Amino acid sequence: MIIDQTRLPGALVELSLTDLPAMVEAIQSLRVRGAPAIGVAGAIGLAVLATRAATDNPATFDAVIAEAAQALATARPTAVNLAWAVQRVLAAGQIGGASPSVRAATMRAEAIAIVDEDIAMCASIGAHGASLLRGGMSVLTHCNAGSLATAGIGTALAPVYTMYARGDVIRVFADETRPLLQGARLTAWELDRAGVPVTLLTDGMAASVMRSGVIDAVLVGADRIAANGDVANKIGTYGVAVLARHHGIPFYVLAPTSTLDPHTLHGDTMHIEMRDGDEVRNLGGVTTAPAGVMVYNPAFDVTPAALVTAIITDRGVFHPPFHFAS
Ligand code: MRU
Repeated sequence: MIIDQTRLPGALVELSLTDLPAMVEAIQSLRVRGAPAIGVAGAIGLAVLATRAATDNPATFDAVIAEAAQALATARPTAVNLAWAVQRVLAAGQIGGASPSVRAATMRAEAIAIVDEDIAMCASIGAHGASLLRGGMSVLTHCNAGSLATAGIGTALAPVYTMYARGDVIRVFADETRPLLQGARLTAWELDRAGVPVTLLTDGMAASVMRSGVIDAVLVGADRIAANGDVANKIGTYGVAVLARHHGIPFYVLAPTSTLDPHTLHGDTMHIEMRDGDEVRNLGGVTTAPAGVMVYNPAFDVTPAALVTAIITDRGVFHPPFHFAS
């Protein structure tokens, strides 16, 4: 079961995904999105398909889970959490001599563990991140790294929720996040629903609001963090980091350890997903550009570690120079 995030904020619709094509489509079309959430979706999806194949003979079971793992792990390329979570569930089922039903049960337990760990990691990020903030501050965020993007209270928004729960209010300025408007449709929706004061900006307004002096910190999530601290996150994040540096505003990246990719040494070798140009040519089903105009539509960019004030994970607050080892 997922919340279909493409329907928000207009409608809160739950979708039941019952087969592999539906699961892959949901991840690729961003019905479920956000690095930790797609990891959880991939893990649960594989466990569901393994459970369904548990009555098959071992050879068929192996073929079913191998095909599902491959398709789910590669549904989107940039967020490392997806392949990481799918691989964990697949590996949990590799028990020599065990029946498919025992293997499927083990995979199911591993998927549930990934969900539970994600919830706990978000809470821990919230506690560590809150140590850097004070009630009454204003922060700027980009895209959606809140509860919709995880199984828990989010990553970038986790300190905001943690502090709000104890009576310390943080005001959030949310970039709308073109082209797919995760900031407007999702971040503004979930913060408003939770009672957290949120002010929506178009992406081009971030510079002006920073210059006005009201922003105390930038909080963003991440899809992949290289060993040297380079950060892949939603397209536009790099620009926000440059602006933050220019205005002397701390730029914090908040992510679970499942987003760290120590095998990628720096951001230049990260695979950045390129998406369909129609996402830029159209807005809300309305054509806003000449049909067929050439479009550049990377889903993510890389912020160099040199622009990052600190990386906050469930394990604590890390300051430069960053060295994430496996
Ligand atoms: O394309 P999306 O919406 O999946 O991109 C999501 C982001 O870039 C988030 O900021 C990132 O995954 C962190 S989510 C906790």
